[in-house]
Amino acid sequence: MKKRTVSFKILVYNSIEELSSIDNNLMLAAIEARENAYAPYSDFKVGAAVLLENGKIVLGNNQENAAYPSGLCAERVAIFYAGANFPNVKIQSIAISASSINYILETPVAPCGSCRQSMLEYETKQNQPISLLMMGKKGEVLKCNSISEILPLAFDSSYLTS
Ligand code: THU
Repeated sequence: MKKRTVSFKILVYNSIEELSSIDNNLMLAAIEARENAYAPYSDFKVGAAVLLENGKIVLGNNQENAAYPSGLCAERVAIFYAGANFPNVKIQSIAISASSINYILETPVAPCGSCRQSMLEYETKQNQPISLLMMGKKGEVLKCNSISEILPLAFDSSYLTS
């Protein structure tokens, strides 16, 4: 038996103002998208902005449903839109911002497991990392360089072929 360590580095910015202008612009788009979230059940709004390599930004936000599991997270709304409408354009990065109607969220929000799996699919498909920016309503912004970092030991298409 041997031990293997799985680790990754994450960048921590004190606020959105510390980001590069490209990242700042993408996070502002995520914040704008967040305001249009349909979240009457959780009161928790999430916005996602996907930057394509052609410079286009695709937006998404969480869409809830009276039958709770039928809703969808912001990240998947955005990335599925990108996959559906720009199937051959690579994705550079994704920014997400979340806020609650009931309190001020000052901690960066991290994507749920299903969104990590869904985003990883597109990283595998394009064979190029997608960077991820995470933020609450205000405060610190986290950045990681690849979706694979936040989903170690992932299941991907490589298992489906010999
Ligand atoms: N949600 C997202 O949109 N993205 C995440 O990464 C976490 C959770 C949504 C789903 C649901 O509409 C609400 O936030 C509360 O879970």
